[in-house]
Amino acid sequence: MSFIASKCPDIRVDVVDINPERIAQWNSDVLPIYEPKLDDIVKKARNRNLFFSTNAPEAIKNADIIFISVNTPTKTYGVGAGKATDLSYVESCARLIVEHSTSDKIVVEKSTIPVRTSDAIKSILSTAKKKCKFDVLSNPEFLAEGTAVDDLENPDRVLIGGEDSPAGQKAIQTLANIYATWIDRKKIITTNLWSSELSKLIANAFLAQRISSINSMSALCEVTSADIDEVSKAVGADTRIGSKFLKSSVGFGGSCFQKDVLSLSYLCEYYGLHEVAAYWKSVIDINNYQKNRFAKNVATSLYSTLREKRLAIFGFAFKEDTNDTRETPAKDVCKYFLEEKAKLAIYDPKVEPEKIYRDLDLPQGSDQIEICTDPYQAAQDASAIVILTGWKSFKELDYQKIYNSMLNPAWLFDGRNITDHAALRKIGFRLRAIGKPALD
Ligand code: UDX
Repeated sequence: MSFIASKCPDIRVDVVDINPERIAQWNSDVLPIYEPKLDDIVKKARNRNLFFSTNAPEAIKNADIIFISVNTPTKTYGVGAGKATDLSYVESCARLIVEHSTSDKIVVEKSTIPVRTSDAIKSILSTAKKKCKFDVLSNPEFLAEGTAVDDLENPDRVLIGGEDSPAGQKAIQTLANIYATWIDRKKIITTNLWSSELSKLIANAFLAQRISSINSMSALCEVTSADIDEVSKAVGADTRIGSKFLKSSVGFGGSCFQKDVLSLSYLCEYYGLHEVAAYWKSVIDINNYQKNRFAKNVATSLYSTLREKRLAIFGFAFKEDTNDTRETPAKDVCKYFLEEKAKLAIYDPKVEPEKIYRDLDLPQGSDQIEICTDPYQAAQDASAIVILTGWKSFKELDYQKIYNSMLNPAWLFDGRNITDHAALRKIGFRLRAIGKPALD
């Protein structure tokens, strides 16, 4: 929304949230999320044509277009728990819109939702007492964290789904005209509502599937002495396959992949397509296998006991250039280590300590882990370094200095394959990486 405001100064954008703390952060100098280049975008437009407030009724009343951008987490209760999407926030948002609308609106689903959710939204909107007309559009967001601003500036495509009626087509064009301010019209794809809703889930499922595919092969590389990065390069050079999203890792995380693949799989089950559901569910199974396999490899290498051993954890975010820890592989891997009674010294350049305690189900300030403000402090007297996030800065550390401060033998487990393994081996580290032969 900030990006639209920055590109279209003649459009007023009101971002509303029921959480006053969150809104106060958006109005402050320290934004609630770390995202490269976002500060400048927000500062440029804030209080010009971009406003953050908790006054949803007023914003609804004045708006011509309303974007529903609420959380759609995996359900944790009742039917479909652990698989289906929790649509309660979407529903309450739609009810709020009905309650406060006094004129016609275009309502846009921005949140990722299961196919046919717009039916539910339309049904709620049709209960409006005042004679307001609502056109519902689906406009899923494809940006990735860490590169959000560039993705918005130059997206591969913008997808807008709407009803196949004159009013639906007019609504599609209204939204398309906004994006066309800075995006080539050829990149704006218009479809029916269901195709648009489903395409977002399928795009994320395909991306997650590529990572699980390459990660499953990393296990095979480790036992055959092939090198997964070499394999990725060779396989990805085929233009029919392509080179992106073939980087093997400790596993994928983030707010989207697991949730969306589970939602897609649940959707297939709901429609009785059990084989299809099982096929997609296996993408998640491989991801869990990969995280567990990596953690187990650390324990086995360290002579099958982690008890009282200090492990320096480099990185906690689900990927580099973000402070987001949702579904981060670091959570599962660290929990595994804690169950084995290891002592963890955790360093991440951007993740706030409170999030780490919360993700590991520890009381704030618990002495079960040490949160470090620099990687050298974390590695001091450690038996091993475990790299869990691909922060660029981890490539540039003084590993000789780190090695000298660690216990002997010093181990390094590279869960992101980002360090120079040959150079580290030369220093003296014993090395284990994803899909690579062991370096002892
Ligand atoms: C993803 C989609 O890319 C985006 O289009 C959608 O809108 C939201 O979900 P995001 O979760 O922000 O975006 O990050 P992404 O870059 O896709 O990475 C997801 C996870 O996969 C991260 O944990 C990342 O480290 C991992 N990953 C990515 C790999 O392990 N290997 C790769 O080759 C690429």
